[in-house]
Amino acid sequence: MHDSLRINRQRLVSRLEQLGQIGALPGGGCCRLALTEEDLLGREQVIGWMHELGLEVSSDAMGNVFGLRPGTEPGPPVMTGSHIDTVRTGGIYDGNLGVLGGLEVVETLNEAGIVTQRPLCVAFFTNEEGARFAPDMMGSLVYVGGMPLEDALATEGIDGERVGECLERIGARGDAPVGNPEVHAFVELHIEQGPILEESGIAIGAVEKVQGISWQELRFTGTSNHAGTTPMRLRHDAGYAAMATGTFVRELANRIGGDQVGTVGALEIQPNLVNVVANQAHLTVDLRNTDNERLKQAETELAAFVEQLAEREGIEVKHRTLARFDPVTFDPDMVARVEASAKALGHSVMRMPSGAGHDAQMLARVCPTAMIFVPSADGISHNINEYTAPEELEAGVNVLLRVLLDLAE
Ligand code: GLV
Ligand code: MN
Ligand code: MN
Ligand code: MN
Repeated sequence: MHDSLRINRQRLVSRLEQLGQIGALPGGGCCRLALTEEDLLGREQVIGWMHELGLEVSSDAMGNVFGLRPGTEPGPPVMTGSHIDTVRTGGIYDGNLGVLGGLEVVETLNEAGIVTQRPLCVAFFTNEEGARFAPDMMGSLVYVGGMPLEDALATEGIDGERVGECLERIGARGDAPVGNPEVHAFVELHIEQGPILEESGIAIGAVEKVQGISWQELRFTGTSNHAGTTPMRLRHDAGYAAMATGTFVRELANRIGGDQVGTVGALEIQPNLVNVVANQAHLTVDLRNTDNERLKQAETELAAFVEQLAEREGIEVKHRTLARFDPVTFDPDMVARVEASAKALGHSVMRMPSGAGHDAQMLARVCPTAMIFVPSADGISHNINEYTAPEELEAGVNVLLRVLLDLAE
């Protein structure tokens, strides 16, 4: 074991900032929605770094990218990585830390002249965010065989374009197979994106599980009419239905309790005018819970509420599930390795669940998997003000280095 080996903080932060320049937003953060021109430029930057570090780069039919560092023995690699796509109002750390942290580990090993027994692989997966194309974690889901490739390629995004045509256009479609990967173990480093570590004054989270996720899309169709002349009893108001649903989701999350959360994050009404009753409303509902039974209860109650609401209001409702993933529990031995590595490096560490979705939850279907969290300032993420201090990033990557060496030697 190379106990005294440490990563280079400055080099790590410099890569994060460089990648953050691609799709940079005024005031900070960046926008690299999956499979856009900005995503392509980000991919080129990271693939360029992979080549500079001597990794063997390949990509699969979903545009997932793999940088392989051969070991002294062949066999399934120890894999790390995450994603480089962002939401429209993204920070520079979400996903990117896991990928560039992996590259920093590789460069640290290169400098020290260390060749591990097992191969190491740094991967980034297509469309983790799901903000443009649902479901989220689509690339890793297809990679592990959880979604047929054809279905993923045919998925239409919020702008009407399809995954397959965008992959072709940006030239990201590779020829490595998907669906049945051989991976020895997977470890993903990520910012927490929530307030727990900071509030607790703890440096490292050893992630034990990920909440279940349910994304629903609702489209209400009513009748537009004059806002001044239409008596309340004669309205078929799609806008009202959307807003009532929003209020219901908040109450539902509070009532179900535990760690249930509920969000209406997208809402559009038509014709969106001050004096017209809305005839169209489109909204999304994001429900999450670590307890699948409670999550199912929330889904059932939402469906019943919406059905009764539509009937009462005399409007039509169309419903579609955009994403549905059960909660995931990580491999106890892997979680223990994260915890032990953090302690060995002198960091405070706590076991915790993940509130956000991650590629690791898909990889957990095919190999022992765990995650390492570092704190997020003020618990803010999916926001341009997302921030983690350099020394906190450094601590996380040093833990990643140690866990990867532990697994690969
Ligand atoms: C993706 O980042 C999600 O957890 O929503
Ligand atoms: Mn992420
Ligand atoms: Mn995210
Ligand atoms: Mn995510």
